[in-house]
Amino acid sequence: MARAAVLCGLGTYLPSRAVGNDDLARELDTSDEWIRSRTGIGQRYLAAPGQATSDLAVEAGERALKSAASGTGPDGADAVVLATTTPDHSCPATAPVVASRLGLGTVPAFDVAAVCTGFLYGLAAGAGLIASGTADSVLVVGAETYSGILDPADRSTRAIFGDGAGAVVLRAGAPDEPGALGPLVLGSDGTGNELIQVPSGGSRRPFHAGQAHSEPADPYFRMAGRQVFRNAVERMSDATTEAAARAGRRPEELDVLVAHQANLRILHAVADRLRLPRERFPVHLDRVGNTSAASIPLALADAVTAGVLRPGHSTALTAFGGGLTWGATTLTWPAVVPV
Ligand code: UT7
Repeated sequence: MARAAVLCGLGTYLPSRAVGNDDLARELDTSDEWIRSRTGIGQRYLAAPGQATSDLAVEAGERALKSAASGTGPDGADAVVLATTTPDHSCPATAPVVASRLGLGTVPAFDVAAVCTGFLYGLAAGAGLIASGTADSVLVVGAETYSGILDPADRSTRAIFGDGAGAVVLRAGAPDEPGALGPLVLGSDGTGNELIQVPSGGSRRPFHAGQAHSEPADPYFRMAGRQVFRNAVERMSDATTEAAARAGRRPEELDVLVAHQANLRILHAVADRLRLPRERFPVHLDRVGNTSAASIPLALADAVTAGVLRPGHSTALTAFGGGLTWGATTLTWPAVVPV
């Protein structure tokens, strides 16, 4: 039988500084009413000065390893995959420093850059390492410090994004076990590359002193919100339907759909498009905002803690983000206690 990747540990970490909508409204031309009604977000957490993505990733990773060890999981992990849009440095990857700080030694460790879909791409990478026999267990982390790449003057992004980290442990197992990941549906559309982008600092528009460029450097994260919104609804709905079909399930048989927490209106539109009750979509963004690659593990842990997601539930995960990228998968929720 094929080696499946089985989710067996879940850990999360949020920085301590909560920033409410009214706090933002003191600095920017916005209001609690606008942010709540247009996005469903009430507050977000921001990293402390000097707190980097790896610091958040290590906290969440340690907790996921603890969660796995207290259940059916391994003691440690054979590989680390870190999904992030906000690495500590543009070179090298952040995953190796996370692996060594977690005491995992010289295991393979690499970053995955798929913006808000990063966690699903990370799960695919982890499942692939297990299927190929490269690893028997993989720590998959989504960690972000968007606060470091947002334009302080951009109300549309600052209202939405927050910092945080979430992680799962995957172990080799059987495809029919609770926690075994179903087929992963992934996609990308590079024609929408400019809809979500940090324009400067990469090879297209480097920061080098003396580098001639017709436009001034823009080091900040930019998003064309309205176009992204439309794409997000279509791609997440379609990817969920396809992932369910490949796993032999119909969308209406899904008990819980944990969708990337970008905007409450997006979650409702996906539910409506799939003709599913909105109650099946756990909501976490009201308290943490959009945490990009960290949003799915953070929402999973919150749903388990709230009793909304329980062992045996037929579950789908789906996300959409910059690239453009999207993805979905299914699993029967296992008896995992988040830490
Ligand atoms: O996570 C990965 C993928 N990301 C997403 O899925 C995000 C998708 N997009 C969205 O969630 C929404 O498009 C936003 C929340 C970003 C924006 O909401 P919207 O309803 O699409 O608004 P909009 O961008 O079309 O802007 C409408 C108006 C604009 O003013 P004008 O040009 O009509 O005068 C904006 O300047 O709302 C204004 N606006 C704000 N006003 C008060 C934008 N942000 C704010 C704000 N406070 N924070």
